[in-house]
Amino acid sequence: MSEQKDLKGTPGPMKVAFIGSECYPFIKTGGLGDVMYALPKALIRQGVEVRVILPCYRCIPDRFKEKMTFRGSFMMDLTLEGRTFYVGIMESVVDGVTYDFIDNREFFDWGNPYTGLWEDIPKYCYFSKASLAILNYLNWVPDVISCHDWQAALVPVYLRTRFDLTPVGAARSVLTIHNLRFQGICSIAHLKYWTGLPDFLFDYPVFKINDSEANMFKGGLAYADRITTVSATYAEEIQTDFYGEGLNGHLWYHREKLKGIVNGIDVDIWNSRTDKLLPAPYGEEDVLAQKPANKRALQERLGLAVDESKFVVGLISRLTDQKGLDLINTIFTQMMDDDTQVVILGTGDQRYEDAFRYYESVYPGQVCAYIKYDESLAHQIYAGSDALLVPSLFEPCGLTQLIAMRYGTVPIVRETGGLKDTVEPFNEYTGEGNGFTFDQYRAELLLDAVRRGREVYLNDRASWDAIVLRDMEKDVSWERSASLYLELFEELKG
Ligand code: ADP
Ligand code: GLC
Repeated sequence: MSEQKDLKGTPGPMKVAFIGSECYPFIKTGGLGDVMYALPKALIRQGVEVRVILPCYRCIPDRFKEKMTFRGSFMMDLTLEGRTFYVGIMESVVDGVTYDFIDNREFFDWGNPYTGLWEDIPKYCYFSKASLAILNYLNWVPDVISCHDWQAALVPVYLRTRFDLTPVGAARSVLTIHNLRFQGICSIAHLKYWTGLPDFLFDYPVFKINDSEANMFKGGLAYADRITTVSATYAEEIQTDFYGEGLNGHLWYHREKLKGIVNGIDVDIWNSRTDKLLPAPYGEEDVLAQKPANKRALQERLGLAVDESKFVVGLISRLTDQKGLDLINTIFTQMMDDDTQVVILGTGDQRYEDAFRYYESVYPGQVCAYIKYDESLAHQIYAGSDALLVPSLFEPCGLTQLIAMRYGTVPIVRETGGLKDTVEPFNEYTGEGNGFTFDQYRAELLLDAVRRGREVYLNDRASWDAIVLRDMEKDVSWERSASLYLELFEELKG
């Protein structure tokens, strides 16, 4: 067996290159950034050698850039015309993980980090090709390349075409879907121009989706050796019309290589006992005693009536349609009563930002709409709220419900994607469960779930406290899921 292994993969520890468009703490707009940080760290603990390849965006804070060292540079051709572009490699080792940032000011000086599809498509064509080129340049050939979302979806295609006969061509690829809503769609001519890839790829099995358009994610899914997504339920859902975002047929066709592996969270960062951002840190043994102090501090900071008996409901979210905010908007006034306070932290679509600001003005001292991205406030809301709302229309995995449970805050979620896989509904007869859930995407069902939760909180505190303790004990770490990724990588290594 072992002889056979050596013939296929490289001997020694498994080597994995992660390629993606964002990564905490350098640059994060959502859960992808969390996963790109925590999964490599968890794999290193399991003996894997990891490199993470990221764009060196201008918007990465200087304190990180100051610690990067220059590892080399070269020119790379891109586009149908074979134009050449500079590729610089800036390296940084943080917590045992090697990060290689691809430096190019033409592509990465704009955006936060995203700009708009017209600019982002060339940006990520360049990024995908440069990522493979730097692995060759660094002479570091991984066994597996783990690619994330549409921004890295060209990697499997370049790997089996332009790079097939180069050293990195020995690697296998896994493409992970974090969110199928974003796919990198543009005119065939635009993608052909920027990728410089051969004509035969611009047909229906790979990039083409209609007479005039091409889809980067679709091509990557066709070419990847394996596809993963971030929960078992989402892996099923995306093969249906409702959740498939137009790619359900394509995913169904490729279903043999598709697998759902649920995300975890980094339990060192999200540790309520050692969290320096909390006014009153706590563990399982003193959560019931300490949570009220965190709640009071949160109320004080946000200008809410300071009263630990209130049922404080948090929402920490990108404010987009995905997150079920129209349901919240529909029931907002019905949800409010004298026992309830609501804290919203998020940025996104203007109409949701405005709606939540409006509710703040209607319910002074009871509602706070903090329309910002603020890591430290997020920690305090996870700790100081009683419940956290996640009524998503679709949710590939969702991390906020995992963080909430880890902080002893009870999630109220819709049963979709990873929310369904991670939050077991409270059963009033057996007393089991982790949170309050509803199934169909209907406002009255969300209202009912909030009311059921509030009822238990106000009138059956023993059951509520039991949920809090169960949530804190739940294993939401990366260990188990990282083992599943490793198993998959080992299968590919052969
Ligand atoms: P998504 O990736 O779809 O946005 P996730 O639940 O997977 O959703 O991840 C969201 C991550 O972003 C979590 O770590 C959450 O705490 C964080 N987050 C979202 N909005 C904010 C905000 N306004 N301020 C701070 N953190 C936020
Ligand atoms: C996406 C999804 C979210 C998931 C995250 C990390 O942004 O919307 O559900 O948790 O990626 O995988």
